Amino acid sequence: VYKDQQEAAEEIAQQIGTIIKLKQEKGENAVLGLATGATPVEVYARLVRMHKEEGLSFKNVITFNLDEYYPMQPDAKQSYVAFMDEQLFNHVDIDRKNIHIPDGTLAAEEIAGYCLSYEHKIEEVGGLDLQILGIGRTGHIGFNEPGSAPNSGTRLVTLDDLTRRDAARDFGGKENVPTKAITMGIGTIFKAKEIILMAWSKKKASIIKKAVEGEISGNVPATYLQLSDNVKFVLDEDAASELT
Ligand code: F6R
Repeated sequence: VYKDQQEAAEEIAQQIGTIIKLKQEKGENAVLGLATGATPVEVYARLVRMHKEEGLSFKNVITFNLDEYYPMQPDAKQSYVAFMDEQLFNHVDIDRKNIHIPDGTLAAEEIAGYCLSYEHKIEEVGGLDLQILGIGRTGHIGFNEPGSAPNSGTRLVTLDDLTRRDAARDFGGKENVPTKAITMGIGTIFKAKEIILMAWSKKKASIIKKAVEGEISGNVPATYLQLSDNVKFVLDEDAASELT
């Protein structure tokens, strides 16, 4: 638990920087699982600063984003492609071919095969060294909404009504928020060597209490993280304020 989001984000950015540099020294790639939304913005800003001011290079970084709305055109301003470009990728020296974000433009019949290939690509590069996560007020991680199975893989899912309401502002009304998304599964996330779930503000306090202290259940998918030895919750004081 950190005093505020800034201190916590700095710590996470340093940790990511260390992974990248250690891998560089070994001549290996760092494979990062990334999240979108408001939560990781400060982390990305710090990584950009470390690139610009300290020469942290992203040449050996391979990224896999957790999710994308479906359908979604990559050039739409609400797309997670646009988000990642704005917050991180446009400002660092990452090789574009190392960036992976679920494709929101697929035809329905292409989705199942695509999702399997997303899983295979992660495996081919040696698996995720680190997965960072936010948490939705439904308890979702990625877009694994209540009802998601612990062994779920990358797939097309239906978004919870609360998740769509929370996204309404970005889309100018809930009715414009896609009803579906492609997301890595809980099983996909679990395979990461390290997992960091971040949450800031009072808005997240009650779901953080459920995720950390509640009964492990598909009703709150983040509770599955209690079963992992490789997970760390990084919170500000407000998000941690309901913990016992
Ligand atoms: C985003 C994602 C979601 C968000 C969650 C919290 O890639 O996977 O699980 O992390 O909805 O969103 P924010 O950070 O906007 O509160």
